[in-house]
Amino acid sequence: MKLLELLEIDAPIIQAPMAGVSTPEMAAAVSNAGALGSIGVGATNAAGAQQMITAFRARSRRSLHVNVFCHAPARADHARESRWLDLLRPQFARFGATPPTILKEIYRSFVADDDMLAMLLAEKPKVVSFHFGIPSRERITALRDAGIVLLGSATSLAEARALVAADVDAIVAQGYEAGGHRGVFDPDADDSRLGTFALTRLLVRETDRPVIAAGGIMDGAGIAAALRLGASAAQLGTAFVACDESQADAGHRAALKSDAALHTVMTRAISGRPARSLANRFTALGRDVDPRDVPDYPIAYDAGKALHAAGRAQGEFGFGAQWAGQGAPLSRAMPAADLVALLRREMVETW
Ligand SMILES: Cc1cc2nc3c(=O)[nH]c(=O)nc-3n(C[C@H](O)[C@H](O)[C@H](O)COP(=O)(O)O)c2cc1C
Repeated sequence: MKLLELLEIDAPIIQAPMAGVSTPEMAAAVSNAGALGSIGVGATNAAGAQQMITAFRARSRRSLHVNVFCHAPARADHARESRWLDLLRPQFARFGATPPTILKEIYRSFVADDDMLAMLLAEKPKVVSFHFGIPSRERITALRDAGIVLLGSATSLAEARALVAADVDAIVAQGYEAGGHRGVFDPDADDSRLGTFALTRLLVRETDRPVIAAGGIMDGAGIAAALRLGASAAQLGTAFVACDESQADAGHRAALKSDAALHTVMTRAISGRPARSLANRFTALGRDVDPRDVPDYPIAYDAGKALHAAGRAQGEFGFGAQWAGQGAPLSRAMPAADLVALLRREMVETW
């Protein structure tokens, strides 16, 4: 079956799930406009995710895409964590604050979250996608038996092959240009950093699943280009960050509108996993850090969020996770439904 029929959408456009930034309101507006609206539940628990699904369903009867994080659960390393807190201490001190005394694994991976699985099986969203890895065969079978369409994110041919072996329905080809967390399964392995163009072609040629191109796609011309490369749809994140329904804070929105958008950086310092952010004070700090000194995801994120909160209390937004892709300067602020309509028009005009 063709991807759009499988997803029950009219346009080959997926609003990326963005934990902490996308909202049920955004997803409903996007789905009602004929594309696929998504929520990211990687930063909440089963109850929080269920509330988001309910909020979506109060606004739309169309397809909903729910994204979960499938990272290997974090390994605590108290010595490394206290060295990391010592390194951040002077930054906290600038805001008259002290770092937390201990760091916690603030989010649970879907691979170890039975409540999230049970909730998804009960709610049956149209689509569930995996980022950072693949859950067990039992979990995949349970989701599939519930009639849920499954997507998985790959940054390389090896990851895509593992997703095909796990029998997902389609693969999100996430290029190095992409904003937010890079979906690499193993953040400590060598990363060949394939761009969206090369990765999309590679996965179209070498796998038998529909490919969804993601990374640096900001307008209808970009979506049309991805389709010409053989992708069945495009997934856009950064393009939706400045939408009215987004949860991005004032600092993130202002940076996206400014010259800061011209520079994005892949950093591990904010969360413990490589992620692309607008260049800011946190990415500058990350430049001088050995990646092996950063605690595991999401333990490092506990410190990162505390530093951001300390800065924000003093009016400094530069320690936020200002996730954005290389196309950031092309971002346009408007209601999500208007953006989908515009993307659809541009796609036709440039085809
Ligand atoms: C603010 C932000 C948050 C993101 N959060 C998630 C997430 O929770 N789950 C996920 O699979 N991908 C997440 N991503 C990555 C997107 O799925 C997608 O790969 C990326 O946005 C594509 O690149 P683009 O931002 O250049 O469009 C996020 C991206 C951004 C910009």
